[in-house]
Amino acid sequence: MRQDIDYRNVFKDAEAYDTLTRSKHVRLIYELERQVLQKLFEQIRSTQKSVMDFACGTGRWTRVLERHCKETLGVDVSAQMVAAAREKCSKAEFIVTDITSDNVDSRLCHRKFDVVTAFRFYKNAEEPLRRTVTEAIPKYLKNDGLFIFDLHLNTFSFMGMLACIIRSLRLYRPLGLTNLTVRTISLHTIRELFKNSPLEIIDYYGMGLLPGRSNFTILPAKPLYKLESFFTRRKVLRNISYNIIVVAGKTKCQ
Ligand SMILES: C[S@@+](CC[C@H](N)C(=O)[O-])C[C@H]1O[C@@H](n2cnc3c(N)ncnc32)[C@H](O)[C@@H]1O
Repeated sequence: MRQDIDYRNVFKDAEAYDTLTRSKHVRLIYELERQVLQKLFEQIRSTQKSVMDFACGTGRWTRVLERHCKETLGVDVSAQMVAAAREKCSKAEFIVTDITSDNVDSRLCHRKFDVVTAFRFYKNAEEPLRRTVTEAIPKYLKNDGLFIFDLHLNTFSFMGMLACIIRSLRLYRPLGLTNLTVRTISLHTIRELFKNSPLEIIDYYGMGLLPGRSNFTILPAKPLYKLESFFTRRKVLRNISYNIIVVAGKTKCQ
């Protein structure tokens, strides 16, 4: 039987995570996502809005969000990750809690936000955790609020398909990779998760058409960003991009 990881308890080493996010391809995707978010935030007049950065980790996005939003809360189950996030942020508030538990921190349980974000979460989370988080998020989202999250290894991208081949041939061990590295996710999975939820996909954007991973990119950073940014802005081939940002809203009021 496949032994799945418990994604709630993986993150103890904030420095190792920050090192990973400084790699070339992760930075490229981050910059492309930032461009999309900037536009979205202008459209919704985010300076008047509140945001909860769920699974905030070391605050990679919380520090961006606090510059764009009136009120920013970072939430994560890992005290080590939140400690690193606090150092990067000047305005944001933080709560260490598991939003899927029966004992959610009392400072959070009755709050609702205009925007909830979840970056680099869904792809790696095991199926039951994906489900319980999807059940919990609407409780914290206003009826006209937006849930914005990303899928950071789309099954139907070039790298996603390569990961699927490596996984099905069980080549990840000989290649020095983990089960988690070759886990992929698609919009189809999200649509399935949303079936029993008040959430629905409103729009989505793609980032990263050319192959790349960690510190491997096939072009230098500047020309690569220019090219990829063209595709992202025009939503060209977004279904086969490495990363997808999903913008979701509530269909039924809760
Ligand atoms: C890969 S990190 C993402 C960090 C950050 N969002 C980013 O994009 O850099 C995933 C985070 O999810 C957190 N996490 C996992 N399960 C959680 C849960 N049930 N409630 C709150 N945080 C959770 C982990 O502790 C970890 O910090």
